[in-house]
Amino acid sequence: MQESTARKRKAGFQTQDNGIVDDGKQTDRRQNSSGISKFFPLILLFAAFYALYQYSGPTRRVASRWLSQEGKTPRHLPGWSTSTYIGLEADTPKRDAIVEAFRHAWLAYERDAMGDDEYHPVSHKGSNLTEAGGIGYTVVDSIDSMLLMGLDAEYLRARDWIEHQLSFERDAPFNTFETTIRVLGGLLSAYHHSGGDSLFLKRARELADRMLPVFDTPSGLPHPMVNLQRREGVWAKDDKEFVSTAEASTLQLEFRYLSELTDEDIYWRKAERVMAVLKSARQAPGLASIFMDPREGRFVTSAIRLGSRGDSYYEYLLKQFIQTDRTEDVYREMYEDAVQAIHDHLIQKSLQTGLTYTAELIPERNPRGEISWRLTPKQDFLVCFFAGNLLLSATRAGSLVDDVSVPPRAEELSDVGRRDWTTGIELLRTCMATHDTKTGLAPEIAHFRIPSDNLEVVQGVPGDWYIKGARVGEHPPYDARYMLRPETVESLFIAFRLTGDKRYRDHGWAIFQAIEKHCRVPSGGYATIVNVDDVPVQHEDKMETFFLSETLKYLFLLFSDGDTIPLSKYVFNTEAHPLPIFTPSIRTGFT
Ligand SMILES: *[C@@H]1O[C@H](CO)[C@@H](O)[C@H](O)[C@H]1NC(C)=O
Repeated sequence: MQESTARKRKAGFQTQDNGIVDDGKQTDRRQNSSGISKFFPLILLFAAFYALYQYSGPTRRVASRWLSQEGKTPRHLPGWSTSTYIGLEADTPKRDAIVEAFRHAWLAYERDAMGDDEYHPVSHKGSNLTEAGGIGYTVVDSIDSMLLMGLDAEYLRARDWIEHQLSFERDAPFNTFETTIRVLGGLLSAYHHSGGDSLFLKRARELADRMLPVFDTPSGLPHPMVNLQRREGVWAKDDKEFVSTAEASTLQLEFRYLSELTDEDIYWRKAERVMAVLKSARQAPGLASIFMDPREGRFVTSAIRLGSRGDSYYEYLLKQFIQTDRTEDVYREMYEDAVQAIHDHLIQKSLQTGLTYTAELIPERNPRGEISWRLTPKQDFLVCFFAGNLLLSATRAGSLVDDVSVPPRAEELSDVGRRDWTTGIELLRTCMATHDTKTGLAPEIAHFRIPSDNLEVVQGVPGDWYIKGARVGEHPPYDARYMLRPETVESLFIAFRLTGDKRYRDHGWAIFQAIEKHCRVPSGGYATIVNVDDVPVQHEDKMETFFLSETLKYLFLLFSDGDTIPLSKYVFNTEAHPLPIFTPSIRTGFT
């Protein structure tokens, strides 16, 4: 089923606390803001905790290092050093090893399941998202990787399949967001990187035309699902009549680029309307709950996090600003508003080693009906995209000059830019720390210790973070898996391109080696592993399409030279499809 796939992409839905306390009734502004004011006791509480551990041994050292920097402009930004600076030359042997891995994955799929939406590498079988038949999920999602990697023969076969076999005449609900980022984004990227092969634009347009009716809701926020044959929006069964915030707000790069290519406003106007609704629905202090109500165009009181269902809302605010060649300030303003709130409310430091992470806010309704917010120290693997996102925003939105140096100099960045750069580097360090497992791969969800933890429960666990519910000899919890996700290597790629510092390639290579060792299926393909802390590993029979589209592409680009998809000319959609930056002829109409 499509739905469960969507959850696997941006969630872990089964085990995630989505924290909806909304009863679906209109929440008036007063109630909303009184809910938010409940932040303040929480902040006080955490300030108290912080003060407490600040005065304990090792953390004090970390804290004092920070305090001594306050108020000064640092001469040297963190995240690179002259001794590890190597510039942006390609590392050809390593890059070629990534291409070999891509062929190992793709050729197995092509042999066993060509044209099917998804691939199961252990059973050598394919499957479709729905019984109505495939929509080219894997083929379309992978094809621009082939173009970039120079895999001409594979590319031509995939193109041939798209020309003769691909059909969107499918009478079943498909996830609006996943279809946009993987299929529409894949087609648009293939169009650009093939030098304008009209086949891809034709298919992209056909798909978008079938999808446009999803925006026909009272507010203009999209339905979460779309029936491609009937051309109508569909509600997801298990989410009442809500749409996740990330899913509504992660369509804009694709629809805007399509409008630019076709000179038809309609695609952009529909996607733009969503942004206008989001802006007017702003809930103090600028953070986004993970569900919205398309009938009323408002946030539903539900969890706030940078992980599943929240993540790419923040990503696309920044990337719309970048896509439009930094000519649309409304997105910069919305992004900066959100990132300020993230710093104020979600960013935390771990107890012993001072690792920066982002916590979640879960709303709870007490018997009197009032809402309070519980801060939960858990971070999805998905959040690791945000490290690179912050580095990118520091040098794009937070720069005082048009083109920052590689690596950036402190005086080239604004105060906000320096703050975001530093947080991005620290968050990346945390993401690397979560790879400190028996396999060298990070789990789907990491929990961080807080002072109120019963330390006995987590005893024997070294360091500051742990995988919740993982016990020796028992079936591993959902949190313990690694499903070939890209977010850490995505951020490593961005960090490398912005600094030329070898350490990011070294980390990326270590991750690639761990994937080779533990996820590679000898007879072809790569598989999810169910517990990153258990060797020998146990495979799950699934190779997500984002392994071909994102993980291997970002690794390939990490070892390519700086002129291959330069960050000054391209913006990556959230599925790693690089789309060109342009000055739009169709402007944003809201402010
Ligand atoms: C997936 O859908 C396509 C197109 O309808 C069909 O040819 C193929 O057999 C399906 N694959 C599976 C595994 O059902």
